Amino acid sequence: MNPPDYAVFGHPISHSLSPRIHAAFGKQTGIALNYVAIDAPAESFAAALARFAGDGGRGASVTLPLKQDAFRLCTQTSDFARRAGAVNSLTRIDGTWHGDNTDGPGLIRDLTGRHGLDLRARRTLLLGAGGAARAAAHALLDAGIGELFIVNRSPERADALADSIGLPKRVHTRYWDDLAGLGGFDLIVNATSAGVARETLRLPFGLVAPRALCYDLSYGSAAFGFLGWANAAARTARGSKALDGLGMLVEQAAESFAIWHGTRPETDPVHDLLRAELPLLATD
Ligand code: ATR
Repeated sequence: MNPPDYAVFGHPISHSLSPRIHAAFGKQTGIALNYVAIDAPAESFAAALARFAGDGGRGASVTLPLKQDAFRLCTQTSDFARRAGAVNSLTRIDGTWHGDNTDGPGLIRDLTGRHGLDLRARRTLLLGAGGAARAAAHALLDAGIGELFIVNRSPERADALADSIGLPKRVHTRYWDDLAGLGGFDLIVNATSAGVARETLRLPFGLVAPRALCYDLSYGSAAFGFLGWANAAARTARGSKALDGLGMLVEQAAESFAIWHGTRPETDPVHDLLRAELPLLATD
């Protein structure tokens, strides 16, 4: 087989679904590609990416914890990637890397397209302030949510994100310990990596308003803790529901595929196939 021309970089990466998603898109559109997963801790990411480029790599997806590092390794970046300060999609052009952020559009497509949600004016709580949270914050604000409250374990990172957004009337930060006093939210987005690290978030049930959506940007077992909390909260918050980030994963992959190959694949067949294997909650 030829050296890979496309890859996803991250750490850990062995359970990534991206190689399957891009292979399925390639099959659907009749585009031949060799897309692999490359494990790269932050300290060796730049060298691994340079080796990949030297071997003919043309495009790369970037996941946890490398999105802010990827941003710094790009010669040019899209406007949205610059606002987010994070890159999850790299394209090799004229011997340099161009960076995009397809997480933001991917999240909005999943919420509004697949799930038919109207995001406008939703009072929103964002948990986390890392690379994933930054893209989500900008995309949600662009999509018309109401007030955004950012809460992060390290409060200074939440403040830095709010400052970089620069909408003081619409975007606020609060301490984790003060969550119980914040009232109900119509949209709660978990952008922390706690679930990936098998850690539990302490969250009061009162955060979930009736008909709210609780959305975890991660998927599979990493999302079980947050979704379990959201489903327990739904017993008192009428009509609320909980979703993981599988749909966002497939949509951001389709956005990257379109940048690299000039055609946007159909996402529903690939999403539905993976959803059949990945239930929203543990089934034992
Ligand atoms: P990503 O690219 O997924 O955003 P990241 O930049 O490493 O990855 O950010 C991880 C986020 O999850 C951060 O907001 C982190 O909080 P800190 O800024 O305080 O580190 C958050 N996080 C990780 N583990 C957590 C935990 N156990 N409880 C709460 N937040 C956690």
